[in-house]
Amino acid sequence: MEKDCCNCSHEPTDAEMIQSLNHIIEGFEGVEGALIPVLQSAQNLFGYLPEVVLKHISLTMRIPYSEVTGVVSFYSFFSTIPRGKNIVRVCLGTACYVRGGKDILKGLRDQLEINVGGTTDDREFSLEVGRCFGACGLAPVLMINDDVHQRVKPAKIRDILNSYRTVLEEVR
Ligand code: FES
Repeated sequence: MEKDCCNCSHEPTDAEMIQSLNHIIEGFEGVEGALIPVLQSAQNLFGYLPEVVLKHISLTMRIPYSEVTGVVSFYSFFSTIPRGKNIVRVCLGTACYVRGGKDILKGLRDQLEINVGGTTDDREFSLEVGRCFGACGLAPVLMINDDVHQRVKPAKIRDILNSYRTVLEEVR
């Protein structure tokens, strides 16, 4: 059998990813307060911030490892565990909460079979909650990646999620 040798969907190797990270770090050389943007870029690159990446950043930027991990644990948008391709965030700010935000959250938990902070086994989705996305008049609000879904109804959750799935789930 012929080996698939197409390079067009080539997944970068760990070495190539680290090389890209080095380029990012170089780009911030001499810049004050570079740690947070470097961590953000690293998270975009790797999808999350594994220990090996944090240690590499610490060594390369000559910042104590404890300082790097301190920053990562301080900001909720950093994650040290793998996240899904799609980040689903339910607003639980006051307006959304009183207009059914918690039902939306329950519907998402049931559909995705994960809790807040979790990621589905197929790595398609991670579930998070937020506090006001600035669209209170259109509550309840749900964000998936950069898309804002307004006046969401629990009955629509399956269709909304399916529009983001790489592989459609069989209808149960
Ligand atoms: S409370 Fe949900 S968008 Fe403001």
